[in-house]
Amino acid sequence: MSVASVDLTQNDSVKSVDFDDSFDFSKLLDKPRHLNMERQRSLDERSLVDASPRHPSSAENGRHMDFENVFSPSKRSSFNSSSAQYALEPHPVFVEAWESLRKTMVYFRGQPVGTIAALDNSDEKLNYDQVFVRDFVPSALAFLMNGEPEIVKNFILKTLRLQSWEKKIDRFQLGEGVMPASFKVLHDPVRNTETIMADFGESAIGRVAPVDSGFWWIVLLRAYTKSTGDTSLAEMPECQKGMRLILALCLSEGFDTFPTLLCADGCSMIDRRMGVYGYPIEIQALFFMALRCALVLLKQDAQGKELVDRIVKRLHALSFHMRSYFWLDLKQLNDIYRFKTEEYSHTAVNKFNVMPDSLPEWVFDFMPTYGGYFLGNVGPSNMDFRWFCLGNCIAILSSLATPEQSMAIMDLIESRWEELVGDMPVKVCYPAIESHDWRIITGCDPKNTRWSYHNGGSWPVLLWLLTAACIKVGRPQIARRAIEVAELRLAKDGWPEYYDGKSGRYIGKQARKHQTWSIAGYLVAKMMLEDPSHLGMISLEEDKQMKPTIKRSSSWSF
Ligand code: GLC
Repeated sequence: MSVASVDLTQNDSVKSVDFDDSFDFSKLLDKPRHLNMERQRSLDERSLVDASPRHPSSAENGRHMDFENVFSPSKRSSFNSSSAQYALEPHPVFVEAWESLRKTMVYFRGQPVGTIAALDNSDEKLNYDQVFVRDFVPSALAFLMNGEPEIVKNFILKTLRLQSWEKKIDRFQLGEGVMPASFKVLHDPVRNTETIMADFGESAIGRVAPVDSGFWWIVLLRAYTKSTGDTSLAEMPECQKGMRLILALCLSEGFDTFPTLLCADGCSMIDRRMGVYGYPIEIQALFFMALRCALVLLKQDAQGKELVDRIVKRLHALSFHMRSYFWLDLKQLNDIYRFKTEEYSHTAVNKFNVMPDSLPEWVFDFMPTYGGYFLGNVGPSNMDFRWFCLGNCIAILSSLATPEQSMAIMDLIESRWEELVGDMPVKVCYPAIESHDWRIITGCDPKNTRWSYHNGGSWPVLLWLLTAACIKVGRPQIARRAIEVAELRLAKDGWPEYYDGKSGRYIGKQARKHQTWSIAGYLVAKMMLEDPSHLGMISLEEDKQMKPTIKRSSSWSF
């Protein structure tokens, strides 16, 4: 067992983390990155490398999987409700899930363009009758894995068109690059016309623009390109421009002292006030992943070149910052516990002036001897010790986490199985905030009471992220166990959006039924376990040139 140990005790001028020097994103610039059909193979080859587990212990334990021999960019065994050709006899829940997913498809002028958030007719719809960008990601992956890329391509193009809309909240105009949170197809039966209505945050509860939408869009564009080998979509000038606009929003210079992205509360999957404003891990990990995907997809023409340089610099700084200051393991926790405060100047050990008294009680028990995770948030005098599922899984998939850190995250999940998986995978965050904290942090939000919804609720959609992360680190058996737990109830319960309770035993108080991403998340998890080569679509290997030298904790054996 090996864990990256990061030393916060040195100042900036003396390099505090060994891997900084060797983490060389600029090497990426050396690679020709023009996209054309002839080069399709090389893109696939890159994905093969991306998908292979590298941790020696995986191979040693006989967990190594040979991704290289199973990948084919063309159609694989396809599953469709009428003519099932799936390799193995599919689980009945799997069959039902595919049938349900097909029912959620949304059409615009005869073309499939996305999937509706929930097909639940029993409740007030709110905006669950819309196509959400983030919700469509697992649907898109399921379709890609099943050799049905058309809906994904249409979705990418449709949302790209929406990006160019003028977006206003009251009298304030949003940035050009903002992608919508969701859109809806409106049918006019009288005139027999169809139009699209999009929400960039101006109708959303809390009026927050979705920072994650643009990142997911780029990630999806790469997944499409990787899966189909069709580079022409990403090469389109419109797509190149769309990417540039998204990146311009988050690479712009300002007053920032950190390479992380400053965010408002509610700007991601957790789309209401939950105390994640600042530098939430969910966004930082997605930001890192989107930057890496953009690096593969951007043409290095006159406009692209300068942007690529900026991306490389930002990736370099971001990975250093995240791996240094967001990483928590037993040693790091102990160091923080002993921090001095009020240190001035660049020699400060406790750079962000975190008060040891702000350490929550639960974290001392939660932290296993072996294991670790990326903190929820780090900023001035602020460390959010909560564990967030999406951010940690994306950190693994994007290789923001070093191989050792990825292993440690998995060790933590195994050690804290009851807390994080329990009776329904997976907790969106852990633990819940209660009482006075809940009042202050959520603004008394009745939907986010303790162990419910975003406040420690269990979200089946996260199963696909957990599965992908498990496969990447060569520990698919963890995912298999989680899927078995989910399979016991998901279909029977009508595919709820989320579950409540400390171990996720109860269908969520206000959970929608037939929530599409619960269905698609399960499908993607199943298909990825069956054919791990699918992982290449959504996973990025650590660049060999960027291999960090990691200081290891001397107290642990390796
Ligand atoms: C809720 C979730 C959000 C999701 C939306 C549609 O608002 O918090 O993450 O995108 O529902 O399912």
